[in-house]
Amino acid sequence: MNTKKFLKKMTIEDKAKLLCGTGPFSIGGFESAAGPVPELAMQDGGTGLNHQHFFQRLMKEPPKDVDPMEGMHVFFNYYEPDKLSEREKEIRKDINSKITEYRGGIDAAPGCYPPGIFLASTWDPKTVYETGKALGMEALVYRIGVLLGTPNCNILREPVNGRFFEGYSEDPFLAKTLAPEMCKGVESMGVSSNVKHFACNNLEINRMNIDELVSMRALREIYLPAFEECCKVASTLMSAYPKINGVHCHENPWLLKTVLREEWGYKGVAMTDWDSCKGSTGDAEAAGQDIFMPGPWDHSDIVKAVEDGRLPVKDLDTAALRVLELIDKFSSVKAPEGLTTAKYKKAGDKAAYNAAKEGIVMLKNNGSMPLKKTSKVVFFGPDRFQDSGWGSAEVKTDRTTVLSEELGKILGSKKVLKNDIEAFRKGATAVVIETVDSGESADRPDLKMSRKTVSTIKKLAKDKGKGKICLILNVPGPVELEGLEKKVDSIFAVFYPGMMGGKAMADIMTGAVNPSGALPCTFPVRYEDTPAYLCYPDNLTCNYGEGIYVGYKGYMKRGIKPLFPFGYGLSYSEFAVNSILGTRKGNKFSVTFNIENKSKTDGKTVIQLYASKRKARTPRETVKLIGFAKPLIRAGEEEEVKIVFDKNELSYFDEEIGKFLVEGGTYDLFLGLNGCEDLIPAGSIYIADGSPELKCGPSWKVYQIVKEKALTDALKKDCETVGMPFGALMEIARWFPHQTFAEASRGPEKFTEFLRACKEFKEE
Ligand code: BGC
Repeated sequence: MNTKKFLKKMTIEDKAKLLCGTGPFSIGGFESAAGPVPELAMQDGGTGLNHQHFFQRLMKEPPKDVDPMEGMHVFFNYYEPDKLSEREKEIRKDINSKITEYRGGIDAAPGCYPPGIFLASTWDPKTVYETGKALGMEALVYRIGVLLGTPNCNILREPVNGRFFEGYSEDPFLAKTLAPEMCKGVESMGVSSNVKHFACNNLEINRMNIDELVSMRALREIYLPAFEECCKVASTLMSAYPKINGVHCHENPWLLKTVLREEWGYKGVAMTDWDSCKGSTGDAEAAGQDIFMPGPWDHSDIVKAVEDGRLPVKDLDTAALRVLELIDKFSSVKAPEGLTTAKYKKAGDKAAYNAAKEGIVMLKNNGSMPLKKTSKVVFFGPDRFQDSGWGSAEVKTDRTTVLSEELGKILGSKKVLKNDIEAFRKGATAVVIETVDSGESADRPDLKMSRKTVSTIKKLAKDKGKGKICLILNVPGPVELEGLEKKVDSIFAVFYPGMMGGKAMADIMTGAVNPSGALPCTFPVRYEDTPAYLCYPDNLTCNYGEGIYVGYKGYMKRGIKPLFPFGYGLSYSEFAVNSILGTRKGNKFSVTFNIENKSKTDGKTVIQLYASKRKARTPRETVKLIGFAKPLIRAGEEEEVKIVFDKNELSYFDEEIGKFLVEGGTYDLFLGLNGCEDLIPAGSIYIADGSPELKCGPSWKVYQIVKEKALTDALKKDCETVGMPFGALMEIARWFPHQTFAEASRGPEKFTEFLRACKEFKEE
């Protein structure tokens, strides 16, 4: 389609229609003055195909004489046909043949892949990319042009958030490094990725109207970087439900125009979250939103806004052209030629398995893992994982692997038991899975585990004989362990691991795979220790009172020890770091070192690089992540690893100057093999070329100047020649410390000694 020519022939009414959803998950699909506009299908897909939504689309034309309730029952038990009546089985058969035809002959349930928190636990860009590719393939099979939530890169700020598991990390560097790989993977399959929710969608309480009061510094340093990186790739973006500093995200010109278009130069399409626009569509369009979802959405207010001048025609045309281009590019996607059911399943299983084995985090092991070939295991409670959360990130499938069955395949089914306390006492490993459900529309009330798990473990620990206890956390995010960590022999976090979680976990427990995941978020001892704890909203406003001190930055700043820190994750191997060396080339710095695998097992480790500003003049985090790597080191061998980082990673956002700035002076570097609480000094770097805006001189604040002896000594001399009592300056420093020296001195050019000392001043 020649989109520009097409647009010229469209009426204002057509263009307005183009910007409004036409179905629950589609746009376009109508006749315009320029000709037919193809329909573009969208669907949630960050963890796989959301079957419910697909079903809704398909059931627009339900098979004859199926009543909606019957249809729903079939849907809910679609992959558990045993629960269906004979008639329902027939209906299912009909629907399945319809779906199979739609999928180009592919007859298999959709794949379920791990969500953001799990993908971030892999600390592996390639794994995220490959998962994105598999999701792109799912989209092609279901003929979906725009795959929503690929990724959801909202920062993991508040662990009770119902959608915590969907996001990537509490750390902006980790999130901005990994999340765009999801976009790249999806787009590489010819499907539009979709980054959501722009921005600060960090709670479910009052999800559409909460007003989030966030400082500009926190927005810039913590909440926006992952979006900025994703926007370099993603063809579409979804705005968030909440308000930021009083303005809803979908009608926020600062977010949608100043930041997104002017600063980042975003060329893709910005859509609303579903049903978020409660006010004037025309005004929201003028504020920078492109598409209003879902459909059918009334387009008359957009037309009216053009007629009464609220929405310039030029802006309408720009948005309409973007949307036409999106439709043109992604409306006719379909399963690739030659993709059979077997190939489809194989590719999805492989990607989901690889992600699962890279992301499972071992949090404790006193030598009881891996199991021996002769080991027996006893399940107390469930023997399988919940593979996804609920809401738009929920995936229904029959392809989920079951831990007990997978262990049975490796150890022999007779060695996998249930509730056998005697076998446990005689030396079997008790496996206790703690599953915490979570999803869209409700926050968790607290971080508690189920009372059942707590009492099961307490009981087992009291009378363990020769038995061992393995606790597996099948959770959306952190939980309080209430001291159970001391009672068990091993702990794993599998979050929601996708359909291959059972298989990957069995391979890890039996030692076929060495665990290599690391936490992308902190696990606190108590919920009360989390940095945003006191800021949980009253329903109307949420004050992001912890500012930039999100996640580990908040724990370290307050000196609160977490249970398991950010970046923590154990291995069956033992690693050590040797010979650290740093170099600089322009704005790129590199830290090179050796990692030694001192054990007899090959293994991967997540090595993290942190920086800390020595004597910072602006309040700063204790350390911040600026790089990482995940090398594979063979048993007994040593590998050279190089982490490169850009000078900009040392910057902070200066609210007064309105820019990211790098303070001159010394930065200490640290390497972390066990997360951010156990750091190995890795030397320091001196930045002589800090941002000119921060250079020592009359623009410095008086309080900054009086802290520096060389500067105050020079000022003392100047005061004598200028005839100004030094005490007067000191008074200013006391009463108006934030005045600049230029303001306080009313003519800094007279202070020649001071100006000379400024030139010579060397920052620490
Ligand atoms: C969710 C989005 C989702 C959309 C469509 C909304 O309620 O917030 O994340 O993509 O529904 O299902």
